[in-house]
Amino acid sequence: MSALKIITLLLGTVSLTAIAATPDDLIGDERAVKQHIAQAELQNFSAKEIIAHGKMLFNAKFTALDGAGRPAATSSEIPVKKDPGISLAMFRTAGPDSNACAGCHNQPGSGGAGEFVVNVFAASGVTNVDFDTLEPQFSNERGTPHLHGSGLVELLAREMSAQLQAIRSKAVEQARTSKASVQVRLTAKGIDFGELSIGADGFIDISKIDGVDHDLIVRPFSQKGVFTSLRQFTINAMNAHHGIQSDERWGTQWTNSDDFDEDGYQHEISSGDLTAISIYQASIQTPVQQLSQNKVLKQAAIEGEQLFNDADCSGCHTQYLPLKSLLFSEPGPYNAAGNLRPSDGQPSYQYPISAEGLSQDAQGNWLIPIFSDLKRHVIADSDKPHFANERLSQRFIAIDEFMSAKLWGVGSTAPFGHRGDVSTLMEVILHHGGEASASRLKFEAMTDLERRKIVEFLKSLQLTLAEVK
Ligand code: HEC
Ligand code: HEC
Repeated sequence: MSALKIITLLLGTVSLTAIAATPDDLIGDERAVKQHIAQAELQNFSAKEIIAHGKMLFNAKFTALDGAGRPAATSSEIPVKKDPGISLAMFRTAGPDSNACAGCHNQPGSGGAGEFVVNVFAASGVTNVDFDTLEPQFSNERGTPHLHGSGLVELLAREMSAQLQAIRSKAVEQARTSKASVQVRLTAKGIDFGELSIGADGFIDISKIDGVDHDLIVRPFSQKGVFTSLRQFTINAMNAHHGIQSDERWGTQWTNSDDFDEDGYQHEISSGDLTAISIYQASIQTPVQQLSQNKVLKQAAIEGEQLFNDADCSGCHTQYLPLKSLLFSEPGPYNAAGNLRPSDGQPSYQYPISAEGLSQDAQGNWLIPIFSDLKRHVIADSDKPHFANERLSQRFIAIDEFMSAKLWGVGSTAPFGHRGDVSTLMEVILHHGGEASASRLKFEAMTDLERRKIVEFLKSLQLTLAEVK
């Protein structure tokens, strides 16, 4: 066993009573993170140890001694300087806004959702601001979603991206060999993402792509659907919320500086750490349906599921997306530069996600009960303007477009809506406009009891606190 492994076991994951000799420099040590793991060292640890390291990082209340704080850097996803000393060390709007990931993702436990008080004022695409106002022209205010099952979410998106890009390659090849234009539907896992036309000259017409980025990468994270991987999200969040910069994004290769934020600390989080915290999130158990013990409520939820389909809610909140493989490899294949990529030459780490609670279809695909198509839709209009409450177009996506909320777990994650400003399921359903209008009208046309049965069904989609085996 390496010395590193022994230290990690002693400090984090196993038992302090096992410590034979405690080094003196641990006395009074106020770092939250006592040990970092390099990507190349991950193979020396069991999956359980890596998840424990990732969980420790997710729950850690980072201190200045860990490199928390960013006096000379903004919350921007790309390294952007600010004048050191012009703002407070912690700042509820522009950040750093919290000490721990689990400070917000905390209901019903670590990795869960958060209520309104832990909303985020996301302006990470905006560069040089220390806004001290909640006015929507400065930031998009978002509620905190849960991360249960998020490894499966990323795997679904990876497989869908591969499928869409394969359709594109094949169509380009066909146009080239036939020297004629080709039209294809972009369909992945039964979800339609519009149309692609390839001209005889090889020109690709992207104007009819629908609900996914033009590079055909399905980005399943954030309520806008603009982030590719748990790793990318974590790198952004570490900087924005905590002022912890990863070398992957803020290191010398990109910034010519090993202390871009000028807080006096270098190498604040390693690639191995980021893999571990991504694997931890990927391992959080899948939400499951929990029917009430009460016979009447149980029956209502069962009928509510059918009514949910009758109202075409499942047109966007697709109950099951089929997944070929549960093997989660980190880093993932669609990361952009500034996040570790498979081509960067570091060993990748493979983690098989548990199949517990999942069923399979006749082809052997795992049926992931996500209740989302992982596609963006226009969800507001002049009759139903509630969801068009943002003013900053994130990544040039229209302000009234959001990704279909993943409804697994929704029975445990009040309040609702991307801003977390709606207290009941009934109300959030009635706010659906835009592409969801026809479905909402069907919902409104149902009897009051039928509508409440749909709500009873949604209440049964819950998060559990079971530990990952
Ligand atoms: C101050 C509260 C807060 C803190 C701290 C926080 N988050 Fe979040 N998290 C949010 C909010 C709000 C969103 C929704 C963002 C959006 O939709 O744009 C989110 C979204 C996410 C998502 C995307 C989930 C999905 O399904 O779309 C991941 C992954 C995530 N957070 C991981 C982390 C990690 C890892 C940390 C710590 C490094 C962290 N978060 C710290 C509030 C927080
Ligand atoms: C056209 C696609 C579409 C249809 C159809 C649709 N939804 Fe949604 N739904 C969305 C989107 C997009 C969101 C995210 C809205 C937001 O917060 O910006 C959402 C959000 C929700 C939420 C809130 C989730 C949360 O965590 O806050 C619930 C509940 C919900 N939908 C239920 C339903 C029900 C019930 C129906 C059928 C009556 C339905 N939806 C029909 C796209 C759709």
